[in-house]
Amino acid sequence: MNKCLLSVLHGERQKIPPVWLMRQAGRYLPEYRAIRERAGGFLDLCFSPRLAAEVTLQPVRRFGFDAAILFSDILVVPHALGRKVRFETGEGPKLEPMKEPQAVSTLPAQIDHKVLAPVYETIGLVKDLLPPGVTFLGFCGAPWTVATYMVAGEGTADQAPARIFAYRHPDAFSRLIECLVKASIEYLVRQFRAGVDAVQIFDTWAGILPPEEFQRWCIAPTATIVRGVRAQIPDAKIIGFPRGASSMLPRYVEEIAVDAVGLDWMIDRRFAKETIQRRKPVQGNLDPLVLLAGGTALDAGIAAVLEAFCDGPFIFNLGHGILPETPIANVEHLLKRLRG
Ligand code: CP3
Repeated sequence: MNKCLLSVLHGERQKIPPVWLMRQAGRYLPEYRAIRERAGGFLDLCFSPRLAAEVTLQPVRRFGFDAAILFSDILVVPHALGRKVRFETGEGPKLEPMKEPQAVSTLPAQIDHKVLAPVYETIGLVKDLLPPGVTFLGFCGAPWTVATYMVAGEGTADQAPARIFAYRHPDAFSRLIECLVKASIEYLVRQFRAGVDAVQIFDTWAGILPPEEFQRWCIAPTATIVRGVRAQIPDAKIIGFPRGASSMLPRYVEEIAVDAVGLDWMIDRRFAKETIQRRKPVQGNLDPLVLLAGGTALDAGIAAVLEAFCDGPFIFNLGHGILPETPIANVEHLLKRLRG
């Protein structure tokens, strides 16, 4: 297989681990900022296939990463479910919040694929332009993480609005999650049909839940998505990223048939190696602040991650998205260190 990242998802170890960075297309790149200014709103950029394809390819062109990740956002799914979504500069996403359980009944039975058509078109454009050895990743948000933004209407520190909603109105919350499961299966299947090689399911807010809720709102829905996608795309390669899952991570891996697991920067590396990498390929783990800081901290961080994981199937990445203030020179340094 000439795509080395994809071969890791098949369980192979690569001597030099393939590398990409979560949020690798973004504000730390001047060429991204230039296009972002031209595009108008953030969603306009996500839904302009030519610009979104260009932004997808920028980091691959500049750094030679082993994967391109589709430029879009996890919140295009609520948008395609008819919820109002806005991105305000410096403020993050704003949605029309879901305060009452009745709001769940207003959701459509079906996601509107016409709204998402530009995303599928972007995938087609990128697929044709991508160098042959580069793996093309699609993605969606996990239902729990997407629901936290739908309920609160914005990002919050502890996702209290969604957690309270789930405690007070478990039936309505369960219907919201089911709606997102169905939408995510269809969305991912269409991404595969349009040309991605693999997908990642981002569960950014998994780690805020107590174990019972983690089981109910993270593990069970994500397992259903993986089964649902494979029912239509039997060999679909899927990476799960339950940020903050901590001691629940082994259960996540046991119950969800993902091909690889993204590790955040907080996990104990020995625990992750022994309980997770023994069973499945892993990805990630470098603290995004270490990449931002650079210098000896960066060298030590890279060495520690490699030391822990390079004996087995491993994809080098951060433990969460690259931060906008990250110096480009530090990313170049990282790649030099990895590839020699
Ligand atoms: O390069 C890539 O990784 C591909 C594109 C991508 C974006 N968002 C672009 C984006 C991906 C994979 C995402 C995922 C995403 N979006 C997640 C899960 C991963 C994570 O980082 O936790 C979440 C929770 C979101 C929701 C979201 N989108 C938030 C909370 C914000 C505001 C915070 C921020 O970083 O500004 C966004 C905006 C967003 N999504 C930007 C980008 C490049 C920045 C907006 C801009 O350019 O103006």
